[in-house]
Amino acid sequence: MILVTGGAGFIGANFVLDWLAGSAEPILNVDKLTYAGNLGTLKSLKDDARHVFVRADICDRAAMDALLAQHKPRAVLHFAAESHVDRSIHGPADFVQTNVVGTFTLLEATRMYWSALPEAEKQAFRFLHVSTDEVFGSLSATDPQFSETTPYAPNSPYSATKAGSDHLVRAYHHTYGLPVLTTNCSNNYGPYQFPEKLIPLMIANALAGKPLPVYGDGQNVRDWLYVGDHCSAIREVLARGALGETYNVGGWNEKKNLEVVHTLCDLLDRAKPKSSGSYRDQITYVTDRPGHDRRYAIDARKLERELGWKPAETFETGLAKTVQWYLDNQAWADEVASGEYRKWVETNYAQRA
Ligand code: NAD
Ligand code: DAU
Repeated sequence: MILVTGGAGFIGANFVLDWLAGSAEPILNVDKLTYAGNLGTLKSLKDDARHVFVRADICDRAAMDALLAQHKPRAVLHFAAESHVDRSIHGPADFVQTNVVGTFTLLEATRMYWSALPEAEKQAFRFLHVSTDEVFGSLSATDPQFSETTPYAPNSPYSATKAGSDHLVRAYHHTYGLPVLTTNCSNNYGPYQFPEKLIPLMIANALAGKPLPVYGDGQNVRDWLYVGDHCSAIREVLARGALGETYNVGGWNEKKNLEVVHTLCDLLDRAKPKSSGSYRDQITYVTDRPGHDRRYAIDARKLERELGWKPAETFETGLAKTVQWYLDNQAWADEVASGEYRKWVETNYAQRA
């Protein structure tokens, strides 16, 4: 089996669902179930013996040792993290704890487990670390895209802790020979994303008749990738990636935030027209995110050249699917927008002029 951390979160759960749709190999899903973890996302797997869920914290060394010893996975895929930049600005401590201490704890437990494996299993073992393009910092409008050799320059507590975890993973390969792989991916979107992130937040607010809060001038650029394409890239890297290598994953879809919000409004205007006017009328400009990175852009040619991976979705097809998914799954969105979520909205948006 494979061990997945953070498999009740947005990307981890999409990965688990996609994996089990295409493979007989079971998954041990280890997740602490923070505010971002949601077992409702995995309810279609309730009676599926291939999915074993364990609620545990990756910072708990004894729990990690016991799970590895009991289930003997052939690979660890590490998705678990605190993942939201705005939350890292309001409270960085959880980010240092999970992203740095948690990754370190998981690496140590894995190293001990891996060192004791019989030679053939040791050779075949993999530790795949799921990281982000934010570790490379911010680009100007004319800078070339991030490549795998772009120097690290993280700017937020979130990206600094992810950079720290990437360095630990790299060091465990260099020093101990642990067979690691790292992916650095751009902004994901798609089903089951927690509505604190731009795209699901805008869809939820639009449908609720609330303001659509664009930070600053709305001209910040992100590269967008449909989550299913990120999952297929991870499967390719796990199967055929070169040990110790890092792979950039991106959608070749650089968009300004305002462009994304306009496209979402236009899709909603067609799918669920308002009684009068457009969803665009709800757009408001609010105080910018402190230290807001201006532009991210990914050069994903290495992954295409070496492993033949290319995204299947364009921004237009992926976003249309996503809007339709949120329209068809409002019960899921209502369930996650619970008490904790309302508190977060209050904390993040109340003081933005
Ligand atoms: P998410 O916040 O939706 O989910 C994170 C999951 O990790 C949750 O289920 C949570 O309960 C779990 N978790 C948190 N702390 C834990 C701990 N201490 N022990 C065990 N489980 C814990 O995040 P996501 O958007 O799905 O991101 C997954 C990974 O992909 C992260 O490592 C993130 O840095 C990376 N990433 C995300 C994006 C993106 O656009 N969302 C892009 C590139 C890379
Ligand atoms: O680049 C990959 C990263 O993408 C991942 O590593 C992170 O885990 C993920 O959260 C995401 O980070 P961003 O900060 O880019 O995503 P977010 O959805 O928070 O914001 C996207 C852009 O939209 C960003 O420029 C800020 C802006 N924004 C966001 C929110 C929540 C707004 O204008 N208004 C908002 O209300």
